[in-house]
Amino acid sequence: MGNISLAIVCVLNYTIIHLSCPQIDSSSQEYVDAHNAARSQVGVGNITWDASVAAYAQNYANQRMGDCSKLVHSGGPYGENLAWSSGDLSGTAAVNLWVGEKTYYNYTTNSCANGRQCGHYTQVVWLESLRLGCGKVRCNDGGTFINCNYDPPGNYVRQRPY
Ligand SMILES: *[C@@H]1O[C@H](CO)[C@@H](O)[C@H](O)[C@H]1NC(C)=O
Ligand SMILES: *[C@@H]1O[C@H](CO)[C@@H](O)[C@H](O)[C@H]1NC(C)=O
Repeated sequence: MGNISLAIVCVLNYTIIHLSCPQIDSSSQEYVDAHNAARSQVGVGNITWDASVAAYAQNYANQRMGDCSKLVHSGGPYGENLAWSSGDLSGTAAVNLWVGEKTYYNYTTNSCANGRQCGHYTQVVWLESLRLGCGKVRCNDGGTFINCNYDPPGNYVRQRPY
């Protein structure tokens, strides 16, 4: 990764209004394929792109332009994974950052290795999350912010993802 710093944060849900206009320069297919590759590895069915979830995601990404690296969650009705890079970041690379947590996740115990996060990965492969939308924005700091939202949300405490 060189001098490119990467950061990722967790997963949340609430309620909020959603506004319009998906506008992403990583294609929806890129996000969908990266999710489905991880899902199929553990026998979980596909997730599909949803225009209204994507509109929500892009609208939220647009609002984060000024503070991308803080990785602030939207507090909306969906599951949510965030990623920030100080440089460019493709949709596939963002999803693969989250999927990289798989190494630390133990399905048998439904737990994560000490000091690690697994919640981004478990959201990606969450069986009951069927609809996906992602947004991406170029940040004022020159970096890239990506968020993916999931409907229905995953990561219910003490439930396994699949
Ligand atoms: C699942 O999605 C992947 C890529 O996103 C696609 O190649 C595959 O055909 C899909 N499988 C089904 C059963 O729709
Ligand atoms: C998961 O945890 C169980 C119980 O502690 C352990 O036996 C197993 O080896 C772990 N699996 C992996 C892949 O670490």
